[in-house]
Amino acid sequence: MPMAPTATEIREFDLRDPPAGFVDDPFPWYEALRADGPIRSMPDGSLLVTGYDACSAVYRSEAFVSDKRNLFQPKFGDSPLYEHHTTSLVFNDPPYHTRVRRTIVEALKPRSIQPTIDMLARRVRELLSSMREAGEADLIEAYASRIPVEVICSLLTVPTDDRDDLRRWSLSILGALEPAISAAEAEEGNRAVTEFLEYLRALIAERRRRPLAEDSVLSSLLAQQDRGEVSELELLHNCIFLLNAGHETTTNLIGNGIHMLLTYESERERLAGDPSRIKSAVEEILRFQSPNQLGNREVMGNVTVCGHRFQPGDQVTLCIGAANRDPGRFPDAHRFLIDRAPNPHLAFGAGPHTCAGMALARIEGKLALSAFFEAFPEAALQAQPRYRDRIRFRGLQALQVRLG
Ligand code: HEM
Repeated sequence: MPMAPTATEIREFDLRDPPAGFVDDPFPWYEALRADGPIRSMPDGSLLVTGYDACSAVYRSEAFVSDKRNLFQPKFGDSPLYEHHTTSLVFNDPPYHTRVRRTIVEALKPRSIQPTIDMLARRVRELLSSMREAGEADLIEAYASRIPVEVICSLLTVPTDDRDDLRRWSLSILGALEPAISAAEAEEGNRAVTEFLEYLRALIAERRRRPLAEDSVLSSLLAQQDRGEVSELELLHNCIFLLNAGHETTTNLIGNGIHMLLTYESERERLAGDPSRIKSAVEEILRFQSPNQLGNREVMGNVTVCGHRFQPGDQVTLCIGAANRDPGRFPDAHRFLIDRAPNPHLAFGAGPHTCAGMALARIEGKLALSAFFEAFPEAALQAQPRYRDRIRFRGLQALQVRLG
């Protein structure tokens, strides 16, 4: 581990203005913050939860709500970003959350996602063979970011040519969730929501005029709208949310996974020796470099967790990345071990909002990583990659690799 932060640095730690080096390696900070108390106050009066037991308890408790209107109104004002984020199921509580989650879980049923999984295996092979000739590639651009967008677009039956627009919109909308954003980033996020809504309205009108033969997540959602289970606006915003939820997160799973396996050679050799280890390897990547590092809740009522008494209205940040390295839960927490067992990581959250797409994300991760290392067993890093300048989502800007 690099040098631990000093006591003063820890006292002054502020997620809105993270210290130098934090984005590339937040783990010494998480470690020091947790050692100072698994639930601690931040300079803005919010609370940061870094301990595994505390994170897990907060995720599962009904006293911690996901409704973000109080938080997003001052941040976004009355704007497309505000409408979008406060209509997404993830930022809502029962009864709205229960109803829309049922709709999304129903839409992601195996029959609706099977055509996408069939397409995925084919597409992964095409992407790999298109990289072969060049002998080297930025795997974020050429591989990790392509797969999740193709998957969600296939679920929503978006034509191939339009996928770059969706990727751009998704990054702008998610970027607006960072703890501090500029006026330009807010404007870009608002424009992205407006354009994305317009795009989806036109797509849905076309699918209603000329339905496709195969089942899809979109056709399932439209059927549910026809039965009055979800309104048009709820459907549109939650389609946008599906892309956002599955895009950057899964890109990071694939990118971080390839990076870790290229870094920890002995683990990569153990995987090559027994490819069935891919299942536990994906879980370890999710734990070790969690694609989504932070979650948020607001406290309703008085509640005590791990000895800390929360007050109504407290804003809470759950640090998944720190919880997943908590030595109290994971022996040798800073070691990357592809067959770690048990591995009860919190990368997909926990409780009523547990990721609704985790089965699909795991399929994507296993397929993308297995196929890559099968195609390029000699692959090697060309340069030490840098992480994107974000703290909520942990993923690489670029991953330049010699394919061998
Ligand atoms: C490695 C990839 C992924 C990671 C790490 C991830 C992580 C998460 C986390 C931590 C949450 C909980 C948020 C909270 O409680 O505040 C969540 C929720 C969600 N995720 Fe994922 N996710 C991934 C991929 C996907 C995919 C591929 C989809 C869909 C295609 C998806 C759909 C959802 C949905 C719909 C929710 C909201 C569930 C609810 O509020 O009830 N996710 N995800």
